[in-house]
Amino acid sequence: MDTRTYRLLLGLAAATLLWPRLGQAQEEASSCVGCHAALSDDLLSAPVSELERDVHSDFGCVGCHGGDAQEFSMLAMDPARGYVGIPEPREVESLCGRCHSDAEFMKRFDPAFRVDQVTEYRTSVHGSRLASVNDQRVATCVGCHPAHSIKPPSDPSSSVHPLNVAETCGQCHADPDYMSPYAIPTDQHDRYMESIHWHMLSEEGDLSAPTCNDCHGNHGAAPPGVSWVGNVCGQCHMVMGELFAESFHSEIFTMLGRPGCATCHDNHRTVAAGDELLGLGEGAACAMCHTESSAGGAVASSMRSLIDSLTARYEAADSILAEAENVGLEVSEAQFGLGDARTALVSARTAVHSFSLEAVKEEVDAGLEVTAVAYASGEGALGEFLIRRLGLAISVALILALIAGLVLKIRKIEQA
Ligand code: HEC
Ligand code: HEC
Ligand code: HEC
Ligand code: HEC
Ligand code: HEC
Ligand code: HEC
Ligand code: HEC
Ligand code: HEC
Ligand code: HEC
Repeated sequence: MDTRTYRLLLGLAAATLLWPRLGQAQEEASSCVGCHAALSDDLLSAPVSELERDVHSDFGCVGCHGGDAQEFSMLAMDPARGYVGIPEPREVESLCGRCHSDAEFMKRFDPAFRVDQVTEYRTSVHGSRLASVNDQRVATCVGCHPAHSIKPPSDPSSSVHPLNVAETCGQCHADPDYMSPYAIPTDQHDRYMESIHWHMLSEEGDLSAPTCNDCHGNHGAAPPGVSWVGNVCGQCHMVMGELFAESFHSEIFTMLGRPGCATCHDNHRTVAAGDELLGLGEGAACAMCHTESSAGGAVASSMRSLIDSLTARYEAADSILAEAENVGLEVSEAQFGLGDARTALVSARTAVHSFSLEAVKEEVDAGLEVTAVAYASGEGALGEFLIRRLGLAISVALILALIAGLVLKIRKIEQA
């Protein structure tokens, strides 16, 4: 007899001894819970305590495993009484789908419940590999929703709460051993952890920033096809999404097999985008494909010069206004006006995605007009201030000379 069987028998003996008490106390309760709670093998007893905090606690063990919860013996788990036991990976979707794909049943709990999880799952790489080649390593429903700790996505302790999703997917996708049969990278989790998206989500509490399922779909997990990466990103970055889709690059990138936005911004390690990404300098995205001599390269460099010139004029105006403010001059109105140049700078960076020099120039020109006005007000205020200060210095000097003259005059009168 091996140790597991031995422990099982011991546990079963203990459970049978406890039985009369448990049976009386929980006459209405399920035999599954009563017996399993008393079993010493953690694997058999843990589901009982775990299920108490699971959304399905009201359905009891029979909700998923079947069997007879009124039978206080091992016969409770008789297949003749509907017991299905532990489902095979391939059977999990229909086990969950029995309720979750039944619109009429689910609407009784909440009319807004979606009932598309199983159909979506079947379209995913996970579901289709399971169905076609019985690949047991893919995620089944319980790969992402641990069987006895299933909680709504809104619950911070849920495996599918936005802050926990990356970890849930990473259990498999970040484990090189587990993923060794496949030819795909295992760096998605680590790279995502360095992204601005994770930073916004985890540090700034911005729940509108995406985690894995926002780009891959909750249940239809597949790599977004090269041609619709822009749509994935464009769900949130709408203006860039539209500009890019209408640009000639959109078609060219699809032809080249480049993944849209992710070509320049990366899919998982998406970082804050700065001006260094534009042009042909080091780290510039355009330099991946363009050189000085190509028409695209020339445009890239010109776009960068335009944006640099606006940045420089913006900084000059900002600093002259700050100088004026420091000496106590009233320039708040001009400072407020300069905000429009900041907006123009953002619009110019957005317009880059049309890859039209004209579009960028239009925004930059608007910004330059604003910075010119702001700079002139700063200059004017400081100029007036200097003149006033010069005037003051001259009058002080005159007064001092006058006093000195008077003193001399008085001395002379006294001596006489
Ligand atoms: C009298 C005690 C007792 C009752 C009542 C009982 N079980 Fe069990 N159950 C056990 C024991 C012991 C095992 C381990 C048997 C084994 O591994 O062969 C077990 C195993 C299981 C397993 C794992 C099966 C496997 O293949 O490893 C599931 C699932 C399960 N029970 C569900 C239920 C459900 C559902 C009910 C109620 C309808 C129930 N049990 C009622 C004692 C009980
Ligand atoms: C929402 C459906 C659901 C409910 C409710 C449920 N189970 Fe399970 N259970 C499963 C699935 C699915 C598996 C297979 C897990 C896997 O493959 O990872 C499982 C596995 C098990 C196992 C095998 C050990 C393990 O953890 O993998 C035991 C024992 C078990 N369940 C007992 C119970 C008992 C006892 C209850 C009631 C307290 C219960 N289950 C309620 C779905 C459920
Ligand atoms: C017996 C029917 C039934 C089965 C079987 C079942 N569920 Fe559920 N599930 C429900 C109901 C009903 C709710 C809503 C409960 C509530 O809100 O009170 C729910 C809620 C959920 C939720 C939370 C949804 C939300 O937005 O609040 C998830 C996730 C979930 N189930 C996943 C699963 C998975 C995974 C399986 C299979 C392992 C499964 N369910 C099996 C009936 C079932
Ligand atoms: C690859 C991981 C993964 C798999 C596999 C998976 N889910 Fe989900 N599921 C999620 C994530 C992530 C969410 C949270 C979505 C959100 O934030 O709204 C979720 C949400 C849910 C919800 C809440 C309602 C909804 O649709 O948003 C239910 C119910 C659910 N899943 C059931 C299932 C069922 C049934 C299966 C199996 C057919 C399954 N899930 C397979 C990751 C998964
Ligand atoms: C239980 C392990 C497991 C979990 C959890 C899991 N996956 Fe997977 N996933 C796999 C396996 C195995 C494959 C098959 C790899 C292949 O065929 O290239 C796969 C395939 C994929 C693919 C297709 C990759 C390709 O290029 O073929 C995507 C995308 C994916 N998973 C996303 C996710 C996301 C997002 C989550 C979390 C919401 C997740 N997975 C959770 C195991 C898992
Ligand atoms: C901002 C959107 C976004 C987020 C967030 C995201 N992905 Fe991806 N992912 C993509 C895109 C786009 C591709 C396809 C790139 C391509 O075709 O080259 C991809 C590809 C993949 C692939 C296929 C293999 C590969 O690396 O190319 C897997 C697996 C994957 N992602 C898993 C994940 C996991 C796990 C997470 C969370 C830790 C995640 N993704 C988060 C957009 C995203
Ligand atoms: C050919 C390369 C390229 C492609 C493709 C591309 N971008 Fe950009 N993106 C850039 C460059 C360059 C900048 C920085 C412009 C600057 O700061 O001067 C940028 C900046 C951004 C910014 C930050 C803007 C700001 O206000 O600072 C976001 C957000 C962005 N891109 C999203 C997207 C999205 C979404 C897509 C796909 C629809 C996309 N990008 C496609 C090159 C690209
Ligand atoms: C679910 C919404 C969502 C999706 C999908 C999404 N993003 Fe974002 N993204 C955000 C939020 C929120 C921020 C942080 C606030 C901001 O800067 O706009 C952000 C920030 C960025 C930034 C940095 C902007 C800056 O200020 O420098 C870039 C670049 C970016 N995303 C590119 C992408 C790309 C490329 C994709 C697709 C692969 C994508 N995003 C998908 C919501 C999203
Ligand atoms: C993945 C490769 C790739 C990247 C990255 C890329 N381009 Fe292009 N671009 C092309 C191809 C291919 C063409 C068409 C052939 C040509 O004109 O060189 C093109 C054409 C152009 C044209 C039209 C030139 C003409 O003929 O009038 C402009 C403008 C342009 N690109 C600007 C940019 C800018 C700006 C960036 C960086 C923000 C950029 N491109 C990044 C591949 C790329």
